[in-house]
Amino acid sequence: MFPETLLMRLSVAHAFGHVGLPAGRFSRTAERDTEKIAALRALQRLFADQHFPAAAHPAELLWQRDALGKPAIDWQGGLADWAASRQLCARHLHVSNTHDGPLHLVLAAYEPGLLGVGVDLVYLPRLRRPGKDADYLRRLATRFMSVQEWQAFTAASHGEDEEALRVRVAAHFSLMEAASKALGTGLRLAMRGARPLALPPRALGVSRLRPEVRLLLGPEAEARRQALRGGECAGDWAVCGEYLISAVVLWRSRE
Ligand SMILES: CC(C)(COP(=O)(O)OP(=O)(O)OC[C@H]1O[C@@H](n2cnc3c(N)ncnc32)[C@H](O)[C@@H]1OP(=O)(O)O)[C@@H](O)C(=O)NCCC(=O)NCCS
Repeated sequence: MFPETLLMRLSVAHAFGHVGLPAGRFSRTAERDTEKIAALRALQRLFADQHFPAAAHPAELLWQRDALGKPAIDWQGGLADWAASRQLCARHLHVSNTHDGPLHLVLAAYEPGLLGVGVDLVYLPRLRRPGKDADYLRRLATRFMSVQEWQAFTAASHGEDEEALRVRVAAHFSLMEAASKALGTGLRLAMRGARPLALPPRALGVSRLRPEVRLLLGPEAEARRQALRGGECAGDWAVCGEYLISAVVLWRSRE
C-alpha cells in the first residue's frame, strides 16, 4: 500500500507520508514519533524539487496543536536553516494527520493562500466485520448525514451492492472528518464527550462523490468558514488497498 503515490484533486500541490505500525498498543510518545516520521516523509516529497535536506531528522519537526487540536509544524535546527535559505515560512505549511488500523498518515501542503488541510483514513476491514451489512451501513449513515446529504446519498446508492455501499458510506464519513480538520474544529461526536467548539456531524457533508466531490456546508460550518475568512473548500477521496483516504483543503477568501 503506497498512499505516497496518491495525487488527489485538491487544487494545491500536496504530498502524503505514511508509517505502518505492527499490531499492538503504543505509548503516546511512540505515536508522536511515528507522526513525525510520517510528516518528514510527506515533506521530503512535497519539497523534492527544493533540495529538501536528505539528512533531515524527525526531531527537527516541532509539532504543535492549537486550542482546538489542529496540528501545525515548525521546523528547527538544520531544517530551519534550509527553510530560511529557501524563504519558506512555517506558517504557510499545512499538515493534517490521521490514524486507523496500523497506519499513520500525514498530508502536507505549502501555500500562502491556504487556511487549512484535513486528511482522514478509514480502515475498510473494520466495516466488513460480521453484522456490518447494508442495513447497518444505512443506519450508520442516518446518524451523521443531514437530510440533504441523506437524499443525495440514497439517490446515488440506489441499486449498489453491499461493498459499493460500504465504500460510499466510508467516503461520506471520511470527507466529513477531513473537512472538520481543514476547518480546524474537529467533530462533536457523542462518544468523545462535550466539545463545544467542534462542529456537529450534520453540519458537514457531501452532496456528490463522483466525478468530483461536492461538499455541503451547513449553517454552523458556513459560520466557521466565514469567521476564518475562508473561501473555496475542495475535497477528494480514493481507495488505496484496504484504506479509504479523504482529503480536504480550505482556501483563504479572495475578497
Ligand atoms: C478531529 C477528529 C475528526 C479526529 O478524528 P479521529 O477519527 O478520532 O482521529 P484521526 O486519527 O483521523 O485524527 C486525529 C488527529 O486529528 C487532529 N485533530 C484533532 N483536532 C483537530 C482539529 N480541531 N482540527 C484539525 N485537526 C484536528 C489531531 O492531530 C489528531 O491527532 P492526535 O490524536 O495524534 O492529536 C475529531 O473530531 C474526533 O475526535 N472525531 C471522532 C471520530 C470518531 O469517534 N470516529 C468513530 C468512527 S466510527
